[in-house]
Amino acid sequence: MKIAIINGPNLNLLGKREPSIYGNQPFEMYMEKLIAQFPQIEFTYFQSNVEGEIVNAIQQYGFSTDGIVLNPAAYTHTSVAIGDAVAAITAPVVEVHISNVRGREEFRKLSYVSGVVDGSIAGLGLMGYELAVQWLINQHK
Ligand code: DQA
Repeated sequence: MKIAIINGPNLNLLGKREPSIYGNQPFEMYMEKLIAQFPQIEFTYFQSNVEGEIVNAIQQYGFSTDGIVLNPAAYTHTSVAIGDAVAAITAPVVEVHISNVRGREEFRKLSYVSGVVDGSIAGLGLMGYELAVQWLINQHK
């Protein structure tokens, strides 16, 4: 089973970026844990700070993998293009946010992807990614 993890802007700074909100672990380090936890899964990890590159990745992995875990980061709240890309693909998609976006600033309450994904997880820290992976595995059975 193939799963793609797609992270949006500034998530390359995890560990350094606002650690009180996002924690102090770089995503690459967490990724190693995820790979060890789910050895049966073929993971692809993609991160970009560029909106169009995220659209391209969703299009690419959306027809060639069995699931996507997507954290569009700030583009969640602004990008019609990312929402449209998610709506266009066939792979199931779980939206993940490290922080509890609904408990923060007003502008973070709007998500252009929530309405087109299979489900959303927010506020559970990096653990949200493994919960999303577990859900995708269960769906695949
Ligand atoms: C985020 C929440 C977004 O509002 C923010 O812009 C991010 C990260 C999260 O994972 O909590 O960059 O998606």
